[in-house]
Amino acid sequence: MDIKRETWGSKLGFILTAIGSALGLGAMWKLPYVIGQNGGSAFLMWFIIFNLIIGLPLFIGELILGRYSARGIVSSFLVHKNTSPSWGMVGWLTVLVSLLILAWYTVVAGWSIAYILIALSDAFSGLSKDEIALSFDKFRDSISLNFTFQLLFIVLNILVLVKGVSSGIEKWSKFMTSALFIMLAALAIYACFLPGFGQGISYILYPDFSKLSSKGVLQALGLALFTLSLSYGVMVTYGSYLKKDNDIPKTALIVLVANLFASILIAITIFPMIFSFGFEPQAGEGLIFKTLPYVFEQLPFSMILSVIFFVLLLFAALTSSISMFEVVVANFTDLTAMSRTKSLIITSLIVIILGLPNVFKQSFMQINTDLVDLILVFVALFTTLFIAYKFDAQALKQEFCLGTKWAFLYKPWLFLIKFIVPLSILLVILERFKVFGL
Ligand code: PHE
Repeated sequence: MDIKRETWGSKLGFILTAIGSALGLGAMWKLPYVIGQNGGSAFLMWFIIFNLIIGLPLFIGELILGRYSARGIVSSFLVHKNTSPSWGMVGWLTVLVSLLILAWYTVVAGWSIAYILIALSDAFSGLSKDEIALSFDKFRDSISLNFTFQLLFIVLNILVLVKGVSSGIEKWSKFMTSALFIMLAALAIYACFLPGFGQGISYILYPDFSKLSSKGVLQALGLALFTLSLSYGVMVTYGSYLKKDNDIPKTALIVLVANLFASILIAITIFPMIFSFGFEPQAGEGLIFKTLPYVFEQLPFSMILSVIFFVLLLFAALTSSISMFEVVVANFTDLTAMSRTKSLIITSLIVIILGLPNVFKQSFMQINTDLVDLILVFVALFTTLFIAYKFDAQALKQEFCLGTKWAFLYKPWLFLIKFIVPLSILLVILERFKVFGL
């Protein structure tokens, strides 16, 4: 491809940016409570399996698709020889999924800004657990507060994104992802000294399969893809800024391991805190906004603890949401003559409009995420099929092997992406329809 396109400043910069995209509300907010609802480590086990057999090959595939085409998500399907224009639909579906996610992601991320302010003002000090829970419910019911904080969060995204790829996204992701790991390590060490540590660990280690339904298994796949930012066009778009000497398989493996490690570390940090105060782990979506703030209040250094936690949450959310924004922004600038700023403004407006139902009511958020989970598996399936069967075989091999010493992994990878990944996704889809009684 001979078009001039911005590229990442450094290899490490890209790795931290990709980890930043992966680590987000998925690992920090969803994973802990979904683990709690689905039988602890039984769920975690599926999550890890899906990461390895579906996540890793697809991750490599998406980066290859992106680097080869050096285009936005829709065009990345269309630049290949002899592809029918209908493949562009998969790209558009991906854009839709990213927008639908942003529509709730920005609302929840806005809460983290509110909770940083609450932590700084020490407003929860001395309140009972019911009072703290109630204040979240009140906050959640306030349309103006939800909207204001969502807007604030979107403005943060715009400030980063307007600077472009290497001096905007990469520069800020590098900073926030590094800070995130330091804060996470501090919290994990702190959790080791809590009385509920042993109970928290055994909860994560001993599976309770009776609590895991087939819907739970689909959720584990959805969450594995979600936390790795796969099937949302992110890694294709980020891949389109890679240089030819970047080692794709190695980069994908590093990001995957770092993300898994951090996700488990977060669970290891959160569960002991919950158990130390006799709470149930399946406290649902309120887990980190209702239960944890109360738990923090009972612990030494409560203010520092809660500020660190919610800043961590904000950084995690921001490095992820900018990657989703980039999918849509890059796609628009790629397909039209639109400037980056204009594309950014249009994307933000769409997100605000799509986000309105989520601002108004919690139940819409559930409908939204269920819908996305469902569209997502099909996007994952078609993207995989495209990479495995529509990509020119010669070009695919060449792109895999460029810049890597692990060319010997090409054949095993090809086997996974041709057979194991699509079959696993298909099985999960079939299982899902059985759950619906179809
Ligand atoms: N991976 C991010 C998280 O876990 C969310 C995300 C999904 C980001 C899709 C980009 C694309 O929160």
